[in-house]
Amino acid sequence: MRTICFPDYRHLSDFAADEIAIAIKNKPDLTLCMASGHTPALAAELLVKKLREEKIDYSRFTFFGLDEWVGLPPSNEGSCHYFFQQKIFTPLALKPSQYFLFNSLANDPESECVKMDKAIASKAGIDIMIVGIGMNGHIGFNEPGTPFTILSHMATLDEVTRSVGQKYFKQETSLNKGITIGLGHLMNARKVILMANGNKKAEVIKNAVEGLVTPSFPASIIQQHRNAVVLLDEEAASLLDNDLVTKF
Ligand code: F6R
Repeated sequence: MRTICFPDYRHLSDFAADEIAIAIKNKPDLTLCMASGHTPALAAELLVKKLREEKIDYSRFTFFGLDEWVGLPPSNEGSCHYFFQQKIFTPLALKPSQYFLFNSLANDPESECVKMDKAIASKAGIDIMIVGIGMNGHIGFNEPGTPFTILSHMATLDEVTRSVGQKYFKQETSLNKGITIGLGHLMNARKVILMANGNKKAEVIKNAVEGLVTPSFPASIIQQHRNAVVLLDEEAASLLDNDLVTKF
């Protein structure tokens, strides 16, 4: 695991977008799994800009949405689907066959999980997985206590996830369950990029990068991945041991 600290959010987002754009240029049929949320929002916009401006062929790459709030329609502005549609699918005019998202309105969420696992297998796995970190150490909706080997699954959301998640919604929204690609897929991904910015993430980043590796703190799994990079701004990196951090 490498940890890189950037002067600010813009620099770290630009670096993340570059990593992905270059990877698609080098492997046009790349598979990308991405989180939604505030952290990757700018990287998503910069990625779209780079792919278009640098005329990189993105017609063959495949996108997997990391997770979704169960029961929210794609039209809800706080849904992950809405985020990806606005930030990536519409601006790049991706073909629906290029992206896989959980249908969080499905009567049978378990079959959605099976479908996602099959889709990932059919594309020979995930090349790059780009994720954020929750205030309880979750990745996607892999909540504290989730086994490291788990594949796609439905999760009962932790109290922290339910309350922090309100930030995505204009009005108080009932958030009880999530559906997510699992940590087993993260461990199998050929590269993992974990991003975090801001003072509020400093403590969870310290736990993830320097703390005990344990399912009680899912993001600590990053220490065990064979090809992971943690991209931080100065605030999120502020509690880390400087000797272990590369300054950008
Ligand atoms: C969202 C997701 C979540 C977020 C995490 C951090 O799709 O997978 O795990 O990455 O909660 O959220 P932000 O980036 O909004 O701080």
